[in-house]
Amino acid sequence: MFEIVADHSRQLIAAGVLLSYCGCCIWTWYGYRAKQRTMSYATGDLLIVWASQSGNAQQLAEQLQQQLSRAGKSASCLALDQLSSSLLQKSTQIIFIVSTFGEGEAPEHARLFLKNVSTDCHLQHLNIQVLGLGDRRYPDFCKFAEQLQARLVAQGAKLSLPLMTVDNMQAEQLAHWQQRMAAHFAIDTIEPSQYQPVWFNATLLERQHLNPYSNSPGLYKLRFQTAHCDWQAGDTVRVHPFNDPAFSSREYSIASSATSGYLELIVRLNYDAKQTPGQCSGWLCETLSLNDSIAFSLCGKPNFNAVEQHKPAIFIGAGSGLAGLRAHLAERPQFSQNWLILGERCPRTDRLLPEELHQWQRSQHLTYLDYAFSRDTNTPRYVQDYLDEQHQRLLSWLEQGAVIYVCGRLQGMGRGVQETLTQLLGEEQMQSLQQQGRYRTDLY
Ligand SMILES: Cc1cc2nc3c(=O)[nH]c(=O)nc-3n(C[C@H](O)[C@H](O)[C@H](O)COP(=O)(O)OP(=O)(O)OC[C@H]3O[C@@H](n4cnc5c(N)ncnc54)[C@H](O)[C@@H]3O)c2cc1C
Ligand SMILES: Cc1cc2nc3c(=O)[nH]c(=O)nc-3n(C[C@H](O)[C@H](O)[C@H](O)COP(=O)(O)O)c2cc1C
Repeated sequence: MFEIVADHSRQLIAAGVLLSYCGCCIWTWYGYRAKQRTMSYATGDLLIVWASQSGNAQQLAEQLQQQLSRAGKSASCLALDQLSSSLLQKSTQIIFIVSTFGEGEAPEHARLFLKNVSTDCHLQHLNIQVLGLGDRRYPDFCKFAEQLQARLVAQGAKLSLPLMTVDNMQAEQLAHWQQRMAAHFAIDTIEPSQYQPVWFNATLLERQHLNPYSNSPGLYKLRFQTAHCDWQAGDTVRVHPFNDPAFSSREYSIASSATSGYLELIVRLNYDAKQTPGQCSGWLCETLSLNDSIAFSLCGKPNFNAVEQHKPAIFIGAGSGLAGLRAHLAERPQFSQNWLILGERCPRTDRLLPEELHQWQRSQHLTYLDYAFSRDTNTPRYVQDYLDEQHQRLLSWLEQGAVIYVCGRLQGMGRGVQETLTQLLGEEQMQSLQQQGRYRTDLY
């Protein structure tokens, strides 16, 4: 009797082991198939490919993908730097949504695309449609979109629709493109309301002159009261000079955390060659009175919002660039590692928000604070010089997974930082940082 029971339990155990083994095999096989499916997403599928500096093109691409998927059509969405020559050769239909940045250039993550795409890549089988995002105030309007289309057509691609462009994200032009897309794919029209900015009011409470003794143009911190505190660090606001939509809107980085309950900006008073104050900065820094109300619309900046909050962060900026960095610093977790490199001109007169920054330094919220003064008579420096001087610290922080945030003017500062980092780290590591979302910029 005992032997029969023992035999039975042995059989049961053996059956259990066999079942678990089969289960494991099936699980692994399904996992493998699922992986195969995600890896082979491109063959013959519709691709939506974006190149974006500040997130507009990426957002439009993702929204189009969702819209198509709701209509039962499958499409894959990817960044232009992920589109290899072999993927291009395998694809039959691609919608490109690309912005232009700098002086008629590609967005940073897509800078090497045209250089890397093989000229031996024959694209006679490929149908494309290119949407260019740009701004007519720049001389090279949508130049990257034009270059991209010209290059792909030269390699044999056919246009399923002619090149379309959108100036300054104008809602009517976007709606026109959406209608063309809806007709092309035989789907319901995409709700244009998705792209209509939502305007909200804010009241000016305080204006602080940050560099009253400086020879540089004035820099002001403005604090507004508003009920609409729903931004993320890294986002910007748009505003029409004099609250008048007849003037084209200007964009400003938000300098405060939404949890503070205040919307703050750091604005440089801009002068033209005749020393006339800029329309919008002149209005914000000089004309606007306390308690005046102003209409803002919020611009989400997915490429400059915070990531990896538990990893070290390197913040680099100059002048008004402190705005976007300050919002991030205010939201960094307790005991995080934060390195701020801040540029201005003169050490005597241009120390911005000194009490606040030194308080952050004392409490070790700022692990390092490096000031670079370009007109320091003893040691003139630009922000990128610190990256060079502190090369070992830079490498060690990056090894720990640090994320780099750069905010401020593109000419000079933004370009200089990118060039120095590329020299120090190499083109490949720079590209890999960009692809991992660890080189995040808000440059203007
Ligand atoms: C993403 C982003 C973030 C920014 N963040 C900040 C910030 O935090 N702080 C800051 O100080 N600045 C910031 N700026 C710059 C800011 O948007 C303005 O360009 C700057 O304040 C100068 O504007 P202005 O109206 O004073 O100067 P203006 O010289 O009057 O105008 C600036 C630009 O608008 C164009 N323009 C002028 N008038 C017109 C018109 N009537 N119609 C069409 N175009 C016109 C001009 O060609 C000029 O290039 C940011 C810009 C961007 C793109
Ligand atoms: C610093 C800077 C440079 C720009 N240069 C150009 C340009 O040369 N040509 C153009 O058409 N638009 C230019 N733009 C406008 C952008 O293309 C436009 O704002 C677009 O909507 C951004 O889309 P994105 O968020 O996908 O990058 C520039 C914008 C910035 C901030």
